[in-house]
Amino acid sequence: METAHLPDEKKKFVKEKFSSISGRYDLLNSLLSLKIDRYWRWRTIRLLREFPGGWVMDLCAGTLPLSLELARQAPKRKVLSIDFCEDMLRAGAKTLPKDGRAERIFPVCGDGEIIPAPTGSFWGCTVAFGVRNLSRTLQGLQEMHRILRPSGKLLILEFSRPTNPIIKPLYSFYLNRVLPLIAGLISGDKEAYQYLASSIAAFYEPEELLAMMREAGFTTVSRIPMTFGIVSIYVGVKA
Ligand SMILES: C[S@@+](CC[C@H](N)C(=O)[O-])C[C@H]1O[C@@H](n2cnc3c(N)ncnc32)[C@H](O)[C@@H]1O
Repeated sequence: METAHLPDEKKKFVKEKFSSISGRYDLLNSLLSLKIDRYWRWRTIRLLREFPGGWVMDLCAGTLPLSLELARQAPKRKVLSIDFCEDMLRAGAKTLPKDGRAERIFPVCGDGEIIPAPTGSFWGCTVAFGVRNLSRTLQGLQEMHRILRPSGKLLILEFSRPTNPIIKPLYSFYLNRVLPLIAGLISGDKEAYQYLASSIAAFYEPEELLAMMREAGFTTVSRIPMTFGIVSIYVGVKA
């Protein structure tokens, strides 16, 4: 498999991979996570309930599943949904439900490492399964910190690695063997799902990510592991 090490090469690789699977992304998400991703997203967005109105940014928004949950949980909330892969945003925009939420979701093509938004303007910033894909993680976190208002909250939903000795080998087998096979057949791009497995394996330890969030300026940081630690919610508050 081709792996990209330099930040700009990784960026190009990631953009191409998401573009190639954009039409099947939602189907595969539900299938491969057995729809548990809905619970993960619900629980993440619950943590923003102190900000029921005003603007929230959903970064690396992809096909907009988290943006939809943001809009569902707070009927007065407006969501700016940023992603650098136009095909992902378009695939999501095409299937937005006709229940009024689409009028409060604003998809914009842009880079999460140079966020096209003014400083101090959002109550919340959410990133689901996107931080792992950034080429310059610290720069991205600094940008997330910049666009938040004082006392605004960052919520990162991201894969982590289970430590339970029984779950760990089972999960590893699923991630490295089963998932690329099924996903390859459905999406036609096995490499994209091999990248998913390798990017989870290569991602920071939870403590490292929390330290980077502190370095980016977040004063209070914490982590909530879910489903045997397969995923975690990372919470950061801007002072
Ligand atoms: C795994 S998808 C997650 C999509 C969505 N947040 C979800 O919950 O399903 C990751 C997304 O991050 C986007 N992405 C990766 N790097 C990015 C960057 N530097 N700037 C903006 N978007 C980026 C990709 O295009 C892709 O749509």
